[in-house]
Amino acid sequence: MSKSKAKHDIDPLTRLAIKHGTDKWGPHFYTPLYHELFSRLRHRPIRLLEIGVGGYELATVGGASLTMWAEYFPHGQITGIDIAEKRLTLPPRVRLFRGSQVDPTFLKTVCDERGPFDIIIDDGSHVPQHVVASFEALFPAVVDGGSYLIEDIQTAFWPSFGGSVFDGGATMKLAQTIIECLNHAEIAVADRARRFPAFAKQIKSLRAFHNLLVVEKGDNSEPSNFGYDLNNPHASRAEQSINQELRSAPTAEGLANLAGLYLRAGQPEKAREVCDKALSQWPANGELLIAAHGAATWQNDVLAGIHYLERLCQIEPDNAALQATLAKARTRLKQ
Ligand SMILES: C[S@@+](CC[C@H](N)C(=O)[O-])C[C@H]1O[C@@H](n2cnc3c(N)ncnc32)[C@H](O)[C@@H]1O
Repeated sequence: MSKSKAKHDIDPLTRLAIKHGTDKWGPHFYTPLYHELFSRLRHRPIRLLEIGVGGYELATVGGASLTMWAEYFPHGQITGIDIAEKRLTLPPRVRLFRGSQVDPTFLKTVCDERGPFDIIIDDGSHVPQHVVASFEALFPAVVDGGSYLIEDIQTAFWPSFGGSVFDGGATMKLAQTIIECLNHAEIAVADRARRFPAFAKQIKSLRAFHNLLVVEKGDNSEPSNFGYDLNNPHASRAEQSINQELRSAPTAEGLANLAGLYLRAGQPEKAREVCDKALSQWPANGELLIAAHGAATWQNDVLAGIHYLERLCQIEPDNAALQATLAKARTRLKQ
């Protein structure tokens, strides 16, 4: 490979990581991924907060990643916090605050002065309890659509940091809580009394990489497919788009799915209407007949249910389960 080709294989953020000497590339493998995640924000006036300036107790050492970020985001406002005193000459858009990542009063001051943030990176102590405390204190200061990154989560498994090799301790528990928050609507189906953290409805996604978690903030109010609610904006957007598409290009399968949506939402009349209309065009479509049977059953219309079942039996005459359901329905009618 030629020298120039090798140069072009490095993304711009990784090149800056090499230039400024942060361990985000080399010891770790974060910067190509960060470039993938953040290149779209590169020329925007973003606000970034990083826990951990670097250099530990040495006041005149550190700032590598902050300098990298300042160069990568030419219009960005960069904030670094560190528990240790820092005397560094950094680019003018970078500001440092001294304090601990587990001190909520300190963190509030930083957020009030510099937030809200598009990106927060935890590259501080990597002590699992600290990781959790910082996430709880700082996630509210992430903008909608922003990201919270937790680096070096390998310490979750290391007892020397307070982690657990058996279950990943507090960091993995946080990851589990975030996944539960993502599924709050599903958990509520089985446990209405379940309480969630305040951020439950603001978790858009959780992505896990080697040594890294990326939490994206955003709306998480999609309903469960069980107990579907058409008043929910996500559900109503889905219903509208399905209707719109099928109006111009109807398919039996699509209409059966739409009828199923109305059934999930507790609207059997609408489901039936969709099915009956579609069945006039596709009289022998199994999916439509199943949906129509479901709607008729919901409406307690036994006769219509039998009618749809008979038509299904004509399509699958050898289906014993279908025959049994039909026999049961006929018996019910006689009672
Ligand atoms: C790995 S270094 C940060 C490196 C830097 N982000 C970079 O990539 O160039 C970790 C830093 O976190 C700081 N730190 C450790 N515990 C902390 C705490 N409780 N609160 C804030 N900073 C802490 C340390 O002083 C150290 O400078």
